[in-house]
Amino acid sequence: MKIKTTLTALCCAVMAITATGTANAAKIGVSMPTQSLQRWNQDGHNLKDQLEQSKHKVELLYAGDNDIPTQLNQIENLIAANCDVLVVAPIDGGSLTEVLRGAKEKGIPVISYDRLIMNSDAISYYATFDNYKVGQIQGNFIVDALKLKDANTTPKNIEFFTGSIDDNNVNFFWGGAIDVLQPYLDKGKLVCPSGQTKKEQVATLNWSTEEAQKRMENLISSNGYGPEGKKLDAILSSNDSVANGITNALVAEGYNKDNFPILTGQDCDKPSVKNMKKGIQTMSVFKDTRVLADQVVKMVNAIVDKKDVPVNDTSTYNNGTGVIPSFLCSPIVVTKDNLKEVLVDSGYYSEKDIK
Ligand code: BGC
Repeated sequence: MKIKTTLTALCCAVMAITATGTANAAKIGVSMPTQSLQRWNQDGHNLKDQLEQSKHKVELLYAGDNDIPTQLNQIENLIAANCDVLVVAPIDGGSLTEVLRGAKEKGIPVISYDRLIMNSDAISYYATFDNYKVGQIQGNFIVDALKLKDANTTPKNIEFFTGSIDDNNVNFFWGGAIDVLQPYLDKGKLVCPSGQTKKEQVATLNWSTEEAQKRMENLISSNGYGPEGKKLDAILSSNDSVANGITNALVAEGYNKDNFPILTGQDCDKPSVKNMKKGIQTMSVFKDTRVLADQVVKMVNAIVDKKDVPVNDTSTYNNGTGVIPSFLCSPIVVTKDNLKEVLVDSGYYSEKDIK
């Protein structure tokens, strides 16, 4: 009888763990970079929801619109409030060394979220998408769309845009894309008329739509691009907020769905999904924030329960203090042909969201 009761109790406990994902509730501090880009709102929202489903108490803070001093203050407060685990998506990956010393001193594990926090030995784990693969996907999309592997293809004109240089992800997005495209530049199959092919020359501070639009306008006027002018075959853009600025400049110049250059993106933000439907952005790389949140919750639960933390990469991401054990989720290519299936049928967006 006693054995039976104990077994039943054990069974219930196991069921409770399976249902909530953890045996122990904890206080989790989450610091996000900005509320002005859709993806981070979605990240914060999904993470909070899923952590709360695991019965954790969640303090979710946004650093205004990419305001570094605000992020520093907020992290300091989360440490002072004795959070059990911190999850941080940095604005500037190199600016948190000092403030995170406090986390290390108090023994608070820190998970670097999506972007790697550099030069801090307080970072326990990193959860992200395969960022190099994101760049490779964009590069390969251009290779296929322009038929660059075909011996008869004539040289094609391309311009490059990447993101904020203080974001460590840029090294991977840019690295993945340029590693695919550089051989075609070397062979003369791809030509960059502006000559701007270095990461520093094509960066976009804070991933700003306005900055990208200004640079595209300058490229148009200084190189004579236009529906009636010099042909622009493709533009590599590392993400959607940058692609939107490029699209604004091209549309203002008279480009439309019938003569639009191949244009890449990342995130499947709503404006970009709408543009893909209209034929004024060609593709976007989808990183399902629900998948990333789910992975972070698994990491948090394992930390709280003192179990092995799930990681699948222990060599790629060195933050200057050593390699940070990471979990890399898989990105997916989206075009107008599969966007309904990937984004709407999976419940990520409603039809109305992207109308
Ligand atoms: C993220 C991208 C995002 C960009 C701008 C990067 O670190 O990985 O998904 O588009 O920041 O917010």
